[in-house]
Amino acid sequence: MGCFHITGGAALGGDALCQGSKNASLPMLAACILTKGETALSHVPSLTDVEAALHILRYLGAKVRREGGALVVDAAGIGKNDVPGSLMREMRSSVIFLGPLLARTGRAVLSAPGGCEIGLRPIDLHLEAVARLGADVKTEGGKIVCTAPEGLTGAEIPLSFPSVGATENAMLAAVLAKGETRILNAAREPEIADLAALLNAMGARVRGAGESEIYITGVKALSGAAVSVPPDRIAGATLLIAGAITKGRVCVKGLSPAQLVPVLDVLERAGCEIQRGANEISLYAPERLRSVRSVRTAPYPGFPTDAQPPITALLCTARGVSVIMETVFESRFRYAGELTRFGASIRSDGRFAVVEGVPRLYGADVAAPDLRGGAALVLAALCAEGESTVADAHHIDRGYEDLAGALQALGGNVRHCRAEGATAI
Ligand code: EPZ
Repeated sequence: MGCFHITGGAALGGDALCQGSKNASLPMLAACILTKGETALSHVPSLTDVEAALHILRYLGAKVRREGGALVVDAAGIGKNDVPGSLMREMRSSVIFLGPLLARTGRAVLSAPGGCEIGLRPIDLHLEAVARLGADVKTEGGKIVCTAPEGLTGAEIPLSFPSVGATENAMLAAVLAKGETRILNAAREPEIADLAALLNAMGARVRGAGESEIYITGVKALSGAAVSVPPDRIAGATLLIAGAITKGRVCVKGLSPAQLVPVLDVLERAGCEIQRGANEISLYAPERLRSVRSVRTAPYPGFPTDAQPPITALLCTARGVSVIMETVFESRFRYAGELTRFGASIRSDGRFAVVEGVPRLYGADVAAPDLRGGAALVLAALCAEGESTVADAHHIDRGYEDLAGALQALGGNVRHCRAEGATAI
């Protein structure tokens, strides 16, 4: 539903402002359940995934309003503790409501969130985390029923993989548990520290967020708070890569170079000049990009899996052969076939892609298979000669507030025909 119409060839130039972070907003919206007060989040991006999270909050009994530039969630009226399958299916990461629902109501009923285009997305680590805190976890039919009628009790939670979502769910459940919780092998993505900042502003006692060990001292109740959602490091990186693939010169404001070290390293190895400001990044692209021998995704602070598709698109026109290894999700190269329609030479087998750079790409009609794969196709169309369309743009709308508008503002010839009936929040 919805599509991008792109005329390639323009070198992007100018300044762009980074949207608010999708992956910080979603757990922060779930955290609003933890208090009977009001929580105000500013700079929440207008995305379909955010809209889905608001649908769930309203279904549970919360009131949501816009006030100035902030989303205000009044969770006093939370009375339900189940998330129906229809709402679970609207957003892959709706499992993030498990922890706060358990902590607030002593019960959480979710349907299995199901896989998505990039992988099976199991939630075993999430369920093990809340079980460690004393919840009883049962699967009845397609439903997952978690109960803790006596409340949760602090515990040690060793994660076998530094899962972002499982770390966040453990934090959201533990802040109201009795006693001390220690999360081991915790995810270190910046969004973890962003969530901890909100929880501590609400009166929680979270220490060590952003490190591999997080310590939480449970408290009896939390109050509302007002915080700002940080910029989206992946959306910002996508705009930098758009500058690189079109031989342009862009500056993305609001981006922290410290959060994108591996991505900036790859861009420099590909021949881009990078200037790192305190709170912005400038990129000057070369006439012809160089291939990058190997790019390997990994949990933070490694190369972010979400930047893998845009970087792979970039390397399609570089001089030489690049090898990209995807270690986080099992099927994150589904967009590779669509890239070949532009004339790219790319072979992939699930966890690997081998890209042999070609001098130029040609306009094509393609379809977005998922959020970041769709962004990669838009980037390829920007540098392709001629006209392109990228269909199924609803995947892109899940994570980019207005990708077409941001690219137009940088000089890109991009039109976004939205799906019928799509409404902004
Ligand atoms: C978050 O997903 C992000 N989503 C993803 O962004 C991002 O790609 C991912 O973290 C990694 O950085 C949000 O924050 C809303 P994980 P999440 O749990 O939490 C396995 C985007 O494009 N795993 O760290 O689901 C899992 O299968 C999206 O913005 C288990 O095995 O990621 C995967 O292989 C895509 N069992 C790996 O861990 C579990 O219980 C990483 O998953 C949980 C995860």
